[in-house]
Amino acid sequence: MSKLKVFEVPHPVLRQTAEPVKVVTPEIKQLLSDMLETMYATHGVGLAGNQVGVLKRVVVVDCGDEKPEPIKLVNPEIIEKSPEIICHNEGCLSVPREYADVERHAQVTVRYLDENGCEKTRTADGLLAIAFQHEIDHLDGKLFIDYLSPLKRKLLLKHLEKRRKKAARLAEERED
Ligand code: NI
Repeated sequence: MSKLKVFEVPHPVLRQTAEPVKVVTPEIKQLLSDMLETMYATHGVGLAGNQVGVLKRVVVVDCGDEKPEPIKLVNPEIIEKSPEIICHNEGCLSVPREYADVERHAQVTVRYLDENGCEKTRTADGLLAIAFQHEIDHLDGKLFIDYLSPLKRKLLLKHLEKRRKKAARLAEERED
């Protein structure tokens, strides 16, 4: 297993559409394991192919409360969504340390292939439903900040840039 590099805004790979996986090969299986390891190492609850620079429709999530509950999804698709909406303060490993309230469907049913290429469906609500929607958005080049008003999004990205510059400055000072 190996930890992968997580791409951050404004990297263009985050804005591209990922391609469906034709066959779940051992390489895809390995990629899913590496993504899971990367997600745990960075304390995320979900990670999509685009975020590690791979334009394939692969996602990992773990919204387990006490014990780990990893789910690996290939070609995930939302086939049903509830009309009820929930609002949750979302974050993203590609938009580090910035959070914003986003509205999502309260319940979704996802169809996908597991790591052995078997077709599965799973109905989720709460945090897991949010994670499914957030990660599948990534595969279509969409980020949670796209749901914000232009002004809110601008402020959030400005804040992120400011923090990056400060971190770079501190690192430079340490080198001196
Ligand atoms: Ni994300």
